[in-house]
Amino acid sequence: MEYAQFPVDPQGSALKGIRGMILTFKADPFVRDESECYDYYEDGLVVIQDGRIINVGNYSDVASDYPALKDIDVYSDAVIMPGFIDSHVHYVQSPMIGSYGDTLLSWLNQYTFPTEAKFKDKDFADEVAHEFFKQLLDQGTTTANVFSTSFPESVDAFFEESERYNTRMISGKVLMDRNVPDSIKDKSAEESIIETEKLLKKWHHRGRQLYAIIPRFAPTSTPEQLQLAGELFQRYSDQGVYMHTHLDEAQGEIDWVTQLFPDQPNYTDVYKHFNLVAPHSIFAHCCIVQEDEWKTLHDNQCGVAHCPCSNFFLGDGVFNVWNAKKIDRPCRVGMGTDVGGGTTYSIPVNLNEAYKVSMLAQKGLTAVKAFYLATRGGAEALHLENSVGSIAPGYEADIAVLSLHPNEFAKWRMKFSDTIFDKLFVLMTLGLNNMNIATYVAGNKVFDRSREKMHMYASEFPETKYSAD
Ligand code: GUN
Ligand code: ZN
Repeated sequence: MEYAQFPVDPQGSALKGIRGMILTFKADPFVRDESECYDYYEDGLVVIQDGRIINVGNYSDVASDYPALKDIDVYSDAVIMPGFIDSHVHYVQSPMIGSYGDTLLSWLNQYTFPTEAKFKDKDFADEVAHEFFKQLLDQGTTTANVFSTSFPESVDAFFEESERYNTRMISGKVLMDRNVPDSIKDKSAEESIIETEKLLKKWHHRGRQLYAIIPRFAPTSTPEQLQLAGELFQRYSDQGVYMHTHLDEAQGEIDWVTQLFPDQPNYTDVYKHFNLVAPHSIFAHCCIVQEDEWKTLHDNQCGVAHCPCSNFFLGDGVFNVWNAKKIDRPCRVGMGTDVGGGTTYSIPVNLNEAYKVSMLAQKGLTAVKAFYLATRGGAEALHLENSVGSIAPGYEADIAVLSLHPNEFAKWRMKFSDTIFDKLFVLMTLGLNNMNIATYVAGNKVFDRSREKMHMYASEFPETKYSAD
């Protein structure tokens, strides 16, 4: 893929550079030869202005074009990559991460719903949003597709914190008007849609924020609520509003959907029947999927979130990446942590589990495929592949820096691996929680593991200037 060059804006902010090993993806290695899908610069330079990447390439080729570039962060023994994309996560489940799981449905009743009931309290929501962003940025995740709760307070708390960091985030109010406790149940389908539209108008495209209409999953919405949600989704489809839900995660859930919607041939068709299947529809899990459903997801260009840590923790189904990416109908797949069903905020740790799940289908993910899923794959799942998920001119400057020496043992182990992908494979397989050492959001280093103040908001950087669209 060729990218148009971005000229320096003489009125813009001072240039910022990041130098070191740089890896970025430009195509899907599940459908193209792996060697065509990435760019790697052993000694590379990313040039940033006003929150956007204006150039990237070999340091020796690029640096001389920017005599005004004085501020360069240099990394050795680390890989500069696009920020990770978490295509499915529940920020509101942070207070209950690591709670004992039984089956998905009993776990929801026992831990999830009582925790989510606390988000009526804005102060509580603020506290959790604050902690969630710290965890995400620590791990190098810069964009996420996020469940809040049914309370508008939880949506506001989330987007307010996202605005402080200037992160590109997707979230919205969760819709659920049946089969959940009264404490979190929507009062009526109509009222829930009115609240949703109000929040959508408030947050969609405000700065970098994007809105999703979120029916939790088919069993917790009445047909009436799904109908109204589908109408709203269609009404805003030309503005890039999302629909985010769960699909085909566990057998007990699928059996329940069959009972509740006996007229629909499969679970995906339930959402389709209510006009909830379209390019901006993101479905989490997709572990137990019939061939007709894969076809529907492919034909409608939907996004699929692969959440292996959560699937193992909750003992759900097993995602088959080779089937999802079948060459004649490949789906858009990204990685999801699904915290609190998932037990880590780290996308690379999820890659470690994704490798093991792929081995159950007799073929292991390579490091090329794995890190593509973590970055550009996630962006493609969210239809954001022209703005985030790659390091290229014109892209938003969201960047993670993965240390190849996060501890003494890893440093020693790396001596025995030669290529960058061999090293990255070891890194993801060791699954260390501190491998990300710095995170840039729209060009600002909002997380730095070696800085006294590790997390910083956008407003704390003097030159912050960014236009989202
Ligand atoms: N299905 C419906 N709600 C949830 C949830 O909160 N977590 C997971 N893993 N699956 C769900
Ligand atoms: Zn989930």
